[in-house]
Amino acid sequence: MAKVLTFCNQKGGVGKTTSCLNVGCAIANLGYKVLIIDMDPQGNATSGLGIDKNYLKLTTYDVMIGRANPKEALHNTDIELLTIIPSNAQLTGAEIELVSAVGREFILRNAVALVGEDFDFILLDCPPSLGLLTLNALTAADKLIIPLQCEYYALEGLGQLINTFNLIKANLNRGLEIGGVILTMADFRTNLTEQVIDEVKKFFGEKVFGSIVPRSVRLSEAPSYGKPALVYDPDGRGSKAYVDVAKELVAREGAAVKNIDQAEKAVEIKEEIVAAVATVDTQNAGGTI
Ligand SMILES: Nc1ncnc2c1ncn2[C@@H]1O[C@H](COP(=O)(O)OP(=O)(O)OP(=O)(O)O)[C@@H](O)[C@H]1O
Ligand SMILES: [Mg+2]
Repeated sequence: MAKVLTFCNQKGGVGKTTSCLNVGCAIANLGYKVLIIDMDPQGNATSGLGIDKNYLKLTTYDVMIGRANPKEALHNTDIELLTIIPSNAQLTGAEIELVSAVGREFILRNAVALVGEDFDFILLDCPPSLGLLTLNALTAADKLIIPLQCEYYALEGLGQLINTFNLIKANLNRGLEIGGVILTMADFRTNLTEQVIDEVKKFFGEKVFGSIVPRSVRLSEAPSYGKPALVYDPDGRGSKAYVDVAKELVAREGAAVKNIDQAEKAVEIKEEIVAAVATVDTQNAGGTI
């Protein structure tokens, strides 16, 4: 059964979609079968994979209103082992149409159960709100992944997300855990970035991924080419940071390892991570990133 990870932060533009796409792509490159479900009516994960939002047969909307089985809505991507259930503006309607539906918070969880056997990881890209789509994502997930932009207001509004997380855990999804915090758009030339990183680490401790994603023009250019940065600029600093986040994530989710080959790979990955984290720490200490 797939591990379900939801990329969630109700703040806009903090790197949810960029993280979801690139981590998804990196996990697929490690040999795991990955499904991204685009839960955002903006459809940025969809267009970021080069899929035209205007010509979609079946989308997350059809799945959410019960008009399609998720298996029918799967859409191949150019990346091996990476599949998406795409989305577009139609999904906005689901928030309204489902308001009075019985069990409306469980729709996605039920849908995910139908495709869970076919994937190792399912990644949910949430919209910037705590509305019904995000509640569905949190109810369907095993882990909450929080992308946080390294800026002065990084932690602002986070209380609301943590409250929602606690409410969902208490009432709808006991198994939900915080899977990790991805620090994004770090500019290591400024003292502010270091301060924000320290603050976030004080708050989330070990949950913060060792690899911190730098601000990178290449990462921001990639969507206009319909490609994750990992494909557009595989050797860039941003891509490498996301590969390290993905490796750390796979190692943390060791339970998803399915066969001996993969188990060995996970051990190797863990060792690589320890080394990578040590490098990042050294570089941070010297302020050279
Ligand atoms: N590390 C980075 N360096 C530079 N630009 C970045 C980086 N990460 C993301 N961006 C850019 O910042 C913008 C917001 O990123 P993204 O779309 O991933 O955020 P989001 O949280 O999904 O936004 P929304 O809340 O609208 O869904 C995009 O234009 C993206 O290309
Ligand atoms: Mg987004």
